[in-house]
Amino acid sequence: MKAIRMSEPGGPEVLVLEEVPDPQPGAGEVVVALRAAALNRRDVFVRKGVAKVPLPLTPGSDGAGIVHAVGDGVTGVAEGDEVIILPSLAWGDDQRAPGPGFRILGGPDQGTYAEQIVIPAANVYPKPGRLSWHEAAALPLAGLTAWRALFSRARVQPGETVLVIGIGGGVATFALHLAKAAGCKVVVTSSSDDKLAKAAALGADAGVNYATAGDDWPAAVKEANGGGVDVVIDSVGSTWAGSVDSCAPGGRVVVFGGTGGAKVEMMVRPVTLGQVGVLGTTMGSPAEFAQLLAAVDAQSWVPVIDSVRPLADAAAAHEREEAGLHFGKLVLECS
Ligand SMILES: NC(=O)c1ccc[n+]([C@@H]2O[C@H](COP(=O)([O-])OP(=O)(O)OC[C@H]3O[C@@H](n4cnc5c(N)ncnc54)[C@H](OP(=O)(O)O)[C@@H]3O)[C@@H](O)[C@H]2O)c1
Repeated sequence: MKAIRMSEPGGPEVLVLEEVPDPQPGAGEVVVALRAAALNRRDVFVRKGVAKVPLPLTPGSDGAGIVHAVGDGVTGVAEGDEVIILPSLAWGDDQRAPGPGFRILGGPDQGTYAEQIVIPAANVYPKPGRLSWHEAAALPLAGLTAWRALFSRARVQPGETVLVIGIGGGVATFALHLAKAAGCKVVVTSSSDDKLAKAAALGADAGVNYATAGDDWPAAVKEANGGGVDVVIDSVGSTWAGSVDSCAPGGRVVVFGGTGGAKVEMMVRPVTLGQVGVLGTTMGSPAEFAQLLAAVDAQSWVPVIDSVRPLADAAAAHEREEAGLHFGKLVLECS
C-alpha cells in the first residue's frame, strides 16, 4: 500500500509518498481501508519536531474508511463495515483525565495518511450515515476536542454565550456548530473578515477581527456581545489573558492548545476578582466520542471542509494549515 512517511522533522517536504507493506491485523485489531484522512494542527507540530515522536512515522490522527480485515477475537466489527476512527488510544477508566498510557494516532502510533491502517477494533465506530467520507474523516479529533471542552468541561447551558477564539481553526468550527446546536449564543474572533463572514453564515451571532482590534480585542468582544461572555473556547494559548478579560463574572475559559505559543504570562487579579474558572482539557474519551456521534446523528450541521487533496499532496495541505489560510478542515483522499 501507499502511505505518507516522514523520517526526519522539517518542512512540508519531509512528507513523502512511499510504498510500504500492507498492515496485518493482530488479535483484537482490524485493518481499515481508508477513504479519507484529515489534518490537525498537531500534525504540523509532529512534522516540525515540536511534538517529539519516534520516526519514521505515518502522520495523521483522523480518518474514515471500510473494514478490510479482522484479527482473532474481534467481535461486533466485520469486513465491509463503514467506520470512523477514534484517534485516542488507552484513555483509561477515569473520565476526568486520560491515563498514563494515553496516545494518539499519528505519533507515536502509525497514523491515517495512508491507504490502510491497523488499529484496535475498539477504535472503530459506525460512520455517521448522513456524513460524506470527507466529512466523516474530518470529525474525530477536532470534533471530540470541541465536544469535551463544551459539555464535559465548561458544562455549557442553553442560553449561555460562548466565545470561540480563532474561528478558522478546525476545533473552532466544531465548537461553533455544537454550541449553536446546544442553544447557545456564539461570538467568534478571527484574523480575517472573510472567515468572520463565513462563520456568520454558519450561525455565529457576532464576530470580532482580532488582527484589526489589536490588544483591545476583549473590549471589542464585549461591545459586540453587549457584555462579557459565559464561556471561552481558547485553543491559542497566548490569548488566555484576553479570554479571561472577555468573560462575564464567573465565566469559564476552556484551554487545550498552544498555537500562539506554549508559555503564558498573565495577571492573577482578573481571574480572582472575576471568579473566572480556567479549565484544562484534551481530546476526549471513548464515552465522549460515542456522545459526539449520537449528537451528529441527531443534529443537522456538517463539518466544515476547507479543501480536499489527493494523499500524495499532503505537503501542500500542510503548507496551507501552517499558514493559517484555512477555514475548517483540510482533507486528504486516501483511495
Ligand atoms: N490538547 C488536545 O487534545 C488538543 C486537541 C485538539 C487541538 N489542540 C490544539 O488546539 C489548537 C487548535 O487546533 P486546530 O487543529 O483546530 O488548529 P488549526 O485548524 O490550525 O487552527 C488554527 C487557528 O488558530 C487561530 N489563531 C492562531 N493564532 C491566533 C491568535 N493569536 N488569536 C486568535 N486566534 C488565533 C487562527 O484562526 P483565524 O484563522 O480565524 O485567525 C487559526 O486558523 C492547536 O494548538 C492544537 O494543538 C489540542
